Amino acid sequence: MPTESQSPYLPFGENNNADWYGKDILSVKQFNRADLEYIFGVAHEMRGMVERVGTFDLLKGKILANLFYEPSTRTASSFMAAMQRLGGSVIAINEVKYSSVSKGESLPDTIRTLESYTDVIVLRHPEVGSAAIAAKAAKKPVINAGDGVGEHPTQALLDLFTIFEELGTGKVDGLTITLLGDLKYGRTVHSLARLLTLFDVQLNYVSPDILPMPKEVMDEVAAKNIPQAEYDSLDKVLPNTDVLYVTRVQKERFENPAEYDKVKGAFVVDPEIMKAAKKEMIVMHPMPRVGEISPEFDDDPRAAYFRQMEYGLYVRMALLAMVLGKA
Ligand code: CP
Repeated sequence: MPTESQSPYLPFGENNNADWYGKDILSVKQFNRADLEYIFGVAHEMRGMVERVGTFDLLKGKILANLFYEPSTRTASSFMAAMQRLGGSVIAINEVKYSSVSKGESLPDTIRTLESYTDVIVLRHPEVGSAAIAAKAAKKPVINAGDGVGEHPTQALLDLFTIFEELGTGKVDGLTITLLGDLKYGRTVHSLARLLTLFDVQLNYVSPDILPMPKEVMDEVAAKNIPQAEYDSLDKVLPNTDVLYVTRVQKERFENPAEYDKVKGAFVVDPEIMKAAKKEMIVMHPMPRVGEISPEFDDDPRAAYFRQMEYGLYVRMALLAMVLGKA
């Protein structure tokens, strides 16, 4: 992780930042480049503050509801850590089976309940569109932490922040970014591909033939005139790749376990394969991994996936401060 230094992003107030107070964060489609510069500028400041003082009182007295209907390690714990680093507190509902959801309570009623006690709601839910339903029910800001196979906007923001911080601010234009693995069900790659259309990049998709990037996402990328191409092998694209974004084949999304077994080990990134890659490039993964990157690669400086998690803390601190009117 590079050391914290003077912000390479636009100084606050010098872009056309929208007023973020009270806003929902539901989809990457709501952001433009100026928004990203603002968010990453705040995230960069958050990083400096954490390195200097650890925890501070920007959101003292504010409460986050962290409502997770699906399992999570990184998103749930980084939002909790973000709120606590900012001096706020958290109501965490990680096991909805212990809440009134198990008695049949609807998502809108659960959201209305939680906003009675809290200032902002982070929601992960298995159904596409659930975050939008929650936002409609709520007067307080709702942040989408993953809605089924739909979107994971805060992951895409932290992914892009990782690229900025690791490869240099302003250098996203011109990069070749290769998305590898389960592109059909991987909501992180859906959000990241959409967000990258704000930049002048080449997108490559490498996946088993039954797990391609959805047509809907490819159509959106094409509409922005971003070059994209599909491959069934990494060999052709790895030597030119600046960012290799690896994803897990998601067992939980398959109705037929035999189909999962056919593709689960289709691609494995290891030190031998990475000999064909550039020396200055990064390998990312939203995690968890289940064999698609070998642990033997972890000590390679290009392995950015653990640093990527830490960048997520700073981006989520920035988002919480922004929607609560403190950035
Ligand atoms: N990247 C990500 O969403 O990880 P979790 O499922 O652990 O939150």
